[in-house]
Amino acid sequence: SEMYMLYGGILLPRETHSSESLEFAQGFSFKDDDVLLVTYPKSGTVWMQEILPLVLNGGDLTSILTIPNWDRVPWLQGKRFAVIVDQLTSPRALVTHFPYNFMPPSLHTSKAKVIYVMRNPKDVMVSSYYFHQMAAFVEDPGTFDEFMDKFLEGRVLFGKWTDHLKSWKQSKLGDRIMYITYEEMFKDLPEGLRNISDFLGRNLSEETIQKITEHCSFNSMKANNMSNFSLLPKTLMDFDKSPFLRKGVAGDWKKHFSSEQLARFTSVIRKELEGESFSLPWSLD
Ligand code: A3P
Repeated sequence: SEMYMLYGGILLPRETHSSESLEFAQGFSFKDDDVLLVTYPKSGTVWMQEILPLVLNGGDLTSILTIPNWDRVPWLQGKRFAVIVDQLTSPRALVTHFPYNFMPPSLHTSKAKVIYVMRNPKDVMVSSYYFHQMAAFVEDPGTFDEFMDKFLEGRVLFGKWTDHLKSWKQSKLGDRIMYITYEEMFKDLPEGLRNISDFLGRNLSEETIQKITEHCSFNSMKANNMSNFSLLPKTLMDFDKSPFLRKGVAGDWKKHFSSEQLARFTSVIRKELEGESFSLPWSLD
């Protein structure tokens, strides 16, 4: 399609990627104190882009209130990366939607840490469906049922959800990678923040944890122009169709899936994950 390019077997939007930016990402040197946020699209990326700098800087809101999220925690493979990354002060937080096998060699040789945020794939699909309606640089989703087939077959940006998860689960990064779910952050954000802070070797006071919790709530983020994408022109994201920060809950799929769709979705995901050594943190049905 005109909007997408194929790279290593997966689809990427041309709006945010170029052959130059992909090459730059391939040659990028991670530093030991870098933190890489990894997500499959619509799993809570922007939420963690809000959280990470605050955990790293001990709750200083300055950058969060003055720099848009895409420059605060920049996209490894994105067009702006080469320019932005040099302006960041260490420890740097970076983000990618790439599967593990697309990582530059320096991720392995450095001591950089990785935080992998995963979300119930049914809610990922619902969130993605609305995103495809409002974002002008991605294809129209078609009907919900059509989009489900595309999602399950991996004919979507960044490929199959299951392939993404498998690649990072098999990454052998040992204690350099932390897995956290959208659902556990939704249920108890302070506890999520404590876990993230422990993983990153930070020692945050309860007061700071509370401050970050308040700032990173769905409503605070929705009101923060640096985080809610309202700085983008309507020609790129049309909030009249759907806001980027749309619902921010766990389990919205229940309002969207028919019982037939649920059975189809569950059986495909089960089959894709057959024989894997990890299990999913949510029940599929
Ligand atoms: P919904 O469409 O289900 O509302 P990503 O950033 O990976 O594209 O994911 C976007 C999803 O994360 C959206 O889900 C969005 O509302 C949700 N989200 C963003 N910030 C959040 C927050 N502070 N609390 C809960 N959900 C949040």
